Amino acid sequence: MTQDELKQQAALRALDYIVEGSIVGVGTGSTANFFIDGLATMKDRIAGAVASSEASAKRLAGHGIRLFDLNDVDQMPVYVDGADEIDASLAMIKGGGGALTREKIVAAVADKFICICDATKRVECLGRFPLPVEVIPMARAQVARQLAALGGRPVLREGFVTDNGNIIIDVHGLQIADPAAFETTVDGIVGVVTNGLFARRGADVLLLATAGGVVTYE
Ligand code: A5P
Repeated sequence: MTQDELKQQAALRALDYIVEGSIVGVGTGSTANFFIDGLATMKDRIAGAVASSEASAKRLAGHGIRLFDLNDVDQMPVYVDGADEIDASLAMIKGGGGALTREKIVAAVADKFICICDATKRVECLGRFPLPVEVIPMARAQVARQLAALGGRPVLREGFVTDNGNIIIDVHGLQIADPAAFETTVDGIVGVVTNGLFARRGADVLLLATAGGVVTYE
């Protein structure tokens, strides 16, 4: 089975968690795209969706799924998204697609974060995937120095601007022993908007697609 087929299996399994008549929080990336395509098959049974990026909003709208502004939503049973890495405690690194800030905001409103992944994303220790950090452009050098002082190798994501008009610094060479503490430390650097650790609020459910089928962790 290809990696894309595994991503699709995990994504379609997440449809079981959709509450009829509700507004669905929708992530960003190739796995989330499979979820959006699956959600389209039940669009008449949901109120609509909140998107975590312009790209996902466009895909949702293309399927005729009604889009809501997050500020008009006070209850959202689930947020469904992929991850770049996820550990046994369901802490994640996200933001490979650069949508980490909006992803974290939409996820914060949802009762449950449903993570959909293929088995390659499961790791013992977070950090092999470079940690994305969204930064206010004028703070680039200052933030990079602080990230280097924390033991990482900061690399500017060249030619990339987030949906919020900011830059991304990817931090290589980390082995993150305490993801929640590191998330707080990086967020504390002046000029950082958000970092891609989702540990203080990790996933509530992981749907991990393996060659033997989709395994559920919660
Ligand atoms: C987007 O900014 C990311 O957080 C994605 O959720 C993550 O990169 C996973 O992407 P794929 O589903 O494409 O692997």
